[in-house]
Amino acid sequence: MAMKMNTNGFQSPKYPSFSLPAVVTTSLRSPKLFMATSSSLRSRSNEVETKVKNSPRSPCHVQITHSMPPHKIEIFKAMESWVEDNILVHLKPVENCWQPQDFLPDTASSDEFHDQVKELRERAKEIPDDYFVVLVGNMITEEALPTYQTSFNTFDGIRDETGVSPTPWAKWIRAWTAEENRHGDLLNKYLYLSGRVDMRQVEKTIQYLIGSGTDVRIENSPYRGFIYTSFQERATFFAHGNTAKHAKRHGDVKLAKICGTIASDEKRHETAYTKIVEKLFEIDPDETIIALADMMKKKITMPSHLMYDGVDDNLFNHLSTIVHRLGVYTMSDYTDIIEYFVGRWKVESLRGLSPQGQKAQEYVCRLPEHMRRLEEKIQDQAKKRPLIPFSWIYGRNV
Ligand SMILES: [Fe+2]
Ligand SMILES: [Fe+2]
Repeated sequence: MAMKMNTNGFQSPKYPSFSLPAVVTTSLRSPKLFMATSSSLRSRSNEVETKVKNSPRSPCHVQITHSMPPHKIEIFKAMESWVEDNILVHLKPVENCWQPQDFLPDTASSDEFHDQVKELRERAKEIPDDYFVVLVGNMITEEALPTYQTSFNTFDGIRDETGVSPTPWAKWIRAWTAEENRHGDLLNKYLYLSGRVDMRQVEKTIQYLIGSGTDVRIENSPYRGFIYTSFQERATFFAHGNTAKHAKRHGDVKLAKICGTIASDEKRHETAYTKIVEKLFEIDPDETIIALADMMKKKITMPSHLMYDGVDDNLFNHLSTIVHRLGVYTMSDYTDIIEYFVGRWKVESLRGLSPQGQKAQEYVCRLPEHMRRLEEKIQDQAKKRPLIPFSWIYGRNV
């Protein structure tokens, strides 16, 4: 997605986006224009270029690795008992968790199963195609979970070193993944039963996406990683919550319940990640505000932005347009999230920052106002976009 850079150094998205712009053209924003944090300067020698050959949506950002200074790892080690007491409590015991089967036709009796599938399909018939495109987008994003667990395990100082590591950080990563796994599973099974989408195309998209990975530029830094996941969980809470509202409006309360239940999990996860970042602001405000400004400059991109279905080279941007048009996740939601976190983490009242930290603080505090000025323009662009065919709904236009 092409982006413009204005004179303030802010970037304005050319199109409405589910995630806000994913891929920045190097001619407009050279990787060398990364915010000049001490971290990024330190890590120049660690820059490696990654090309994803499995998808036409190659990220091609220069990847900065291990930008967190090694001594900061101690901070995350020292936080372990706090994580045990304050973060693991946000996980639900498996026995108390919902499972996809709770919301799907009961397979125990074949008569009931057939009746329930019939009812499910009758309800789904009343829902328009563009809704299904968005629901598929949500499902595919959830189904790329292997990529997200991989990402977590690239974070210095918190990764699960063995796959069964007993540290609270590793326990969280595994149990969070296990909770998240139910989201894609439930939506996938629902969509399969609905008969409304071309499952083969959807499944191909998932395979392409997991093969491509994600290019969200966290630099192995848990500061950046937890900021990213705080935003991401809140964004998915909005997206699933809004698909629930739409389903209800179309008269499908059971589908609304499915989406709403997933949304409430996202909210619980958001609470945990937000608390971690709040703690980092308390322990190390300078590095945390610099990381926040850096992630804001890069923009919080949906982790599924490299999606491809074997047909549409611009699939993610097309999906973003529909998501925006339907009001499931908009530029205004994105700005609301920034504004919310600036308040939640008390960014304006941070004191005792280095000159670089102060600059980062100013940037972040000014950002919501700047983003608000772009909203109307982007809303207009979404309305003007022509109809787009999606292979997920057998090539029909939405
Ligand atoms: Fe999820
Ligand atoms: Fe989530």
